[in-house]
Amino acid sequence: MFSPRLIARLYSAESVAVLTGAGVSAESGVPTFRGENGVWKKFKSEELANFDAFMRNPELVWEWYRHRKEIIAAIQPNAGHYALADLEKHYRRFSIITQNIDNLHRRAGSKEVYELHGNIERNYCISCRKQFPNQEILSKPGIPRCSDCDGLIRPDVVWFGELLPPDVWDAAAEAAAHADVFFSIGTSAIVYPAASLPIMAKHAGAYLVEINPDPTPITDSADEFIGGKSGEILPQLLQEITRKG
Ligand code: OAD
Repeated sequence: MFSPRLIARLYSAESVAVLTGAGVSAESGVPTFRGENGVWKKFKSEELANFDAFMRNPELVWEWYRHRKEIIAAIQPNAGHYALADLEKHYRRFSIITQNIDNLHRRAGSKEVYELHGNIERNYCISCRKQFPNQEILSKPGIPRCSDCDGLIRPDVVWFGELLPPDVWDAAAEAAAHADVFFSIGTSAIVYPAASLPIMAKHAGAYLVEINPDPTPITDSADEFIGGKSGEILPQLLQEITRKG
């Protein structure tokens, strides 16, 4: 299933970076954003994932995020997340750059994780930036307010039109620039700037591998496209590397 070239590259690599998207969590039961049953097919992103919408109707936005938080709290990492966490142990540097906000990479044991779009388990006050854990938010009904300054609390996720956290972006871009092998897994590779990372890595000399059941706009630029589900392919890849190593 895996080309000798990929295995040789992975065997000699010192630094590996992985960009993940919603597809990596699909087998855990988190719906993806696009595609047949995608979240953005049923709900309007401009009414739910944008700061103006939040200021206009915080009740609606919080109803949506309470629902998302409850779904995510109830699910578990899948075999793909665990295989990535295991692969990390075989490299001097192994970075996960994720667009997912579900915290499943960390829960699976990955250590170097750059969360480009935030983390749904965190929340903060938009006035004084005090942080609030989910337990505190979910234990009370209604729109959450800051215990210090009464400001509105929002989930710590990046909404449409917002900048990515600059320190996280810088670290992700640096990991991409120094990767010997770069994987793009379970992402439609259309949301920027995240989608620019695989191409940046390739231009900097990385061997670019894509894992996805369907091709994406970066497939033609990839050195290899492996068609299929990450929860099935990644454990097999781990087995191959462990056997050789
Ligand atoms: P998408 O929903 O756009 O794409 C999911 C990708 O996963 C598709 O290319 C699917 O083919 C693929 N896929 C589905 N099942 C899979 C599986 N089992 N294994 C591997 N791949 C699978 O999700 P993202 O690319 O993550 O942004 O979307 C990027 C951003 O758009 C999200 O972070 C979110 C969204 O709006 C924000 O909320 C800021």
